[in-house]
Amino acid sequence: MSTPHQSSPTLSTDIKRLKQGWLIVFEGIDGSGKTTQIELLYDRLCRDGYDVIQRKEPTDGPWGQKIRRLFSHGREGISREMELSWFLNDRRDHVTHYIRPALDRHQIVLIDRYYFSTMAYQGALGLDTRAIQAQNEAFAPIPDLMLLLQIPPENSLRLVRQRSAPNQFEKPDYLKQVAAVFDHMQFPYLRRIDATQTIDLVHRHIWQAVDPLLRRLEDSAS
Ligand code: TYD
Repeated sequence: MSTPHQSSPTLSTDIKRLKQGWLIVFEGIDGSGKTTQIELLYDRLCRDGYDVIQRKEPTDGPWGQKIRRLFSHGREGISREMELSWFLNDRRDHVTHYIRPALDRHQIVLIDRYYFSTMAYQGALGLDTRAIQAQNEAFAPIPDLMLLLQIPPENSLRLVRQRSAPNQFEKPDYLKQVAAVFDHMQFPYLRRIDATQTIDLVHRHIWQAVDPLLRRLEDSAS
C-alpha cells in the first residue's frame, strides 16, 4: 500500500487560503481507479497552490491493521457486527486525529474510501445501510463532495482476478452486491464519474466537478 501524502509539497509560493476546510471523498468498487485518480487530483491541487492532504481508509492505525488481517485471513469467526465495529473504530480515530484537525486548518482533505464504503461493503453483508450511515454521521463529517467512480462489476472482477492474491472482500457475488448498493446511493454532494474512460479523461471529469466548487471557497483576502 502506498503511503498517502500527509502534508502538501506545494510548488506554488502563493498558498491559496480557503474560507473553510473541504472534504472530498473517492468511492467505488475495487479496481475503479480511485488510487490513480486521487494521486492525480492531489498533484494538481498542490501545483495550483492549495493546501491539501491525502488520506486512505482503512488507515494504518491499530484498527486498520486489524482490518487488513481480515482481508488476508478471511472473515471466519468474525460476526458482521464485529467487522462493522472495527471499521467504525478505525474511522473514529481517523476523524479525531487527522480529518477534523485538517479541516479546522482549512485544508483540503482527499480520502480514498470513507463511510460510503462501509454502507456498501458491510451493507452488502446484510446490515442496514441507513443505520450504518447514521452511526457514521454521528461522528464523521459529511463530505463536501463525493466522487463515485463507476465501472461495471465485471470489469472489477477481471482486474481483481489479474492480481496475484485477491482478498476476501473480492468475491464475485459479494462485489456485485457492493456495486448495487453504491448504484442506489443518492446524496446532494454525490457526483458519479464514468471510470471506464481513459485515465486522462476521468481526471478531466473529476477536475470539472472540483474546480468550480473550489473557486467559490477561495478566500479573496489571501
Ligand atoms: P484496500 O486494498 O486498501 O483498498 P483498495 O482496493 O481500494 O486499494 O482494501 C480496502 C478494502 O476494504 C476494500 O475491499 C473495501 C473494504 N472496506 C470495507 O469493507 N469497509 C469500509 O468501511 C472500508 C473503508 C473499506
